[in-house]
Amino acid sequence: MKAIRIYEFGGPAVMQLVDVPRPVPAADEILVSVYATSVNPADYIIRQGGNDLLRPYLKLPLGLGLDAAGIVEEVGSEVKNFKVGDKVYGVPNFPGDGSYAEYLTAKASQFALMPRNISFIEAGALPSCALIAWNGIVELGKVLPGQRVLIHGAAGGVGNLAVQFAKAKGAYVIGTASSYNFDFLKELGADEVLDYKDQQFETLLGNIDLVFNASPVRDNATRLKSADLLKEGGIFVCTQLDSPFSDELKEALAGKNATATHVGGGGLAYVSSLSETTKLIEEEKVKAVISKVYPLEQVADAHRESETKHVRGKIVLKIKEAHEAV
Ligand SMILES: NC(=O)c1ccc[n+]([C@@H]2O[C@H](COP(=O)([O-])OP(=O)(O)OC[C@H]3O[C@@H](n4cnc5c(N)ncnc54)[C@H](OP(=O)(O)O)[C@@H]3O)[C@@H](O)[C@H]2O)c1
Repeated sequence: MKAIRIYEFGGPAVMQLVDVPRPVPAADEILVSVYATSVNPADYIIRQGGNDLLRPYLKLPLGLGLDAAGIVEEVGSEVKNFKVGDKVYGVPNFPGDGSYAEYLTAKASQFALMPRNISFIEAGALPSCALIAWNGIVELGKVLPGQRVLIHGAAGGVGNLAVQFAKAKGAYVIGTASSYNFDFLKELGADEVLDYKDQQFETLLGNIDLVFNASPVRDNATRLKSADLLKEGGIFVCTQLDSPFSDELKEALAGKNATATHVGGGGLAYVSSLSETTKLIEEEKVKAVISKVYPLEQVADAHRESETKHVRGKIVLKIKEAHEAV
């Protein structure tokens, strides 16, 4: 089968499309024929050699990719929740061979049935960002109707889903983005939008119940300003798993009995995140936002675009044409 592998860390050119053996599922795994995957910041960070958190897991040669939408081709002997032919979406094993490939094996517990009303391309844009946004807003953020939620990086892959999940839960949503994304975010349901570059959001806002930091930029000053906006007992959830909270931030939060937590890594609620996402998409309360679709052969261009850190929604990699599905 065709798959992307890297044999050295570096720029986009280190990604090679090669022939590798098709994987075989273990007892608790499914074999998925992959139709679409998408690009996440972790993909280019891994390609470049990783960060302090990821580096210990990275052994060359490496596959890349954290999202998959496709069709179940085989099921392991212990798998009860899927059958051959099911359309599924989910997150491959990590560490593992990634999802930039014609086939992958993954734990069945990291996949769910795809929403019936969307394409493989749309489904391929969703899993890992839905996982992080759902866990951040609902499981850790404990959002309630009427609460005021501030989302940084609201137009990005994680951020746009966080906006939609928070709105679906009845929250009042304030997003930060560049001004060219204001109309887009309003259409998505955001109640207020602020430009992180030239509006002093800390002087304009207050009384925030939940801050969800989904910006791809690690910035302690923004974290501190956000902590100031939180209500007594508020919650700060941060996607930047590799970047610990400073003592200054911890003190600022402790002063108002607020809590701070990172979302990601172990302990994520895969099944509920994906099945709730499926439900919300089928109810047309949430949609996949795709900025561009590249064929797998153009993965280097897709990475270059993602590395600008200004993608609206997701960049999808098409692995197979949907009409190939039987
Ligand atoms: N923990 C995990 O397992 C996990 C999984 C997925 C993602 N993540 C993390 O979540 C974060 C977001 O990922 P993503 O996939 O959503 O990234 P992304 O799609 O690449 O983010 C792009 C967005 O970031 C916004 N942005 C750029 N600079 C900003 C700034 N200084 N302040 C606020 N927003 C800014 C851009 O907005 P404008 O174009 O409007 O300027 C753009 O909409 C990353 O740090 C990623 O590593 C973590």
